Amino acid sequence: MSIHVASITAPVNIATLKYWGKRDADLNLPTNSSISVTLSQDDLRTLTSAACSAQFTEDKLWLNGEEESLGSKRTQDCLADLRQMRQQMEQADSALEPMSQWKLHIVSENNFPTAAGLASSAAGFAALVTAIAKLYSLPQDMSELSMVARKGSGSACRSLFGGFVAWEMGQLADGTDSKAVQVASREQWPEMKAVILVVSDEKKDTSSTQGMQLTVRTSDLFQERIKTVVPQRFDEMKRAIVARDFEMFAELTMKDSNSFHATCLDSYPPIFYINDTSKKVIRLCHAINAYFNRNVVAYTFDAGPNAVMYYLQENESKLLPFFYPLLSTVEGWGTKFTAETLQGFENTFNT
Ligand code: DP6
Repeated sequence: MSIHVASITAPVNIATLKYWGKRDADLNLPTNSSISVTLSQDDLRTLTSAACSAQFTEDKLWLNGEEESLGSKRTQDCLADLRQMRQQMEQADSALEPMSQWKLHIVSENNFPTAAGLASSAAGFAALVTAIAKLYSLPQDMSELSMVARKGSGSACRSLFGGFVAWEMGQLADGTDSKAVQVASREQWPEMKAVILVVSDEKKDTSSTQGMQLTVRTSDLFQERIKTVVPQRFDEMKRAIVARDFEMFAELTMKDSNSFHATCLDSYPPIFYINDTSKKVIRLCHAINAYFNRNVVAYTFDAGPNAVMYYLQENESKLLPFFYPLLSTVEGWGTKFTAETLQGFENTFNT
């Protein structure tokens, strides 16, 4: 039997200006534009292989070794778009094999906990879409493919680019202008570093999809966020990245994380993603910045309690001594905090 296979890895991205809210849940169109930093593939990534054959009888997916349903509307929407793109190529070139008609087998594996607020859906859908695009030899227009990944999971569209990435919310009702673009490559600001403080690797209680829909429906604060706060911050953050202005980047990143979690608290009933340990990390970062009299570190939290902290390479040796004694490395990619170690850490600042 003849089988065609393509494999790809896709990295995780962590938003510094948060996507939170859909204006169209069907097409996954956001209520605001967002910005993220794509992490190195050596750290957190999804590895996906896609295979197709005329002999396969059904589409199948294995996620982290377990067979999963491929029935979700989001996955089906991505597969339908990719098959349509392939079909157009086949119609234009009769020498191409009719892969768009064949069933797919997809095998995907994360090297980090799934659904623990570590952006697994972003890397997952980015890998799914790019693996099939490679299998089908689709033109590598990443913004075009980002619109397919967006239908799988909004944040996934940003993982198609490296470096600093914007997801432009777009204005059109059909979503054809709601896509990811690169703001700056990794090489343009190579000194930027990120460390993840794993507070918990358990699955989150409220999924991002459910959480943001509750926020859109019930939070008054959210209206202010999308009308005035985020549009201005979107321009300011892009400028800070291009100008490599860490001071400004850090302030905007921390403020936006706080604004997003404030709208979660303002939802009814409220949603709590950050916990007491997360709050200690927040206080700690502000204490470090106050100690140095400038922003040397910025925290941000997605839909979970884990902290991602950004800093510049040149400050690593100043910063990490504050962290090292209290950290233990988890499987080589993350760092784990406990409430007790943070308490000890805070005390060092208070004395
Ligand atoms: C807090 O992209 O997971 O991480 O589009 O419903 O799949 P869906 O949501 P998802 O939401 C991510 C929310 C966030 C912020 C962000 O990544 O911008």
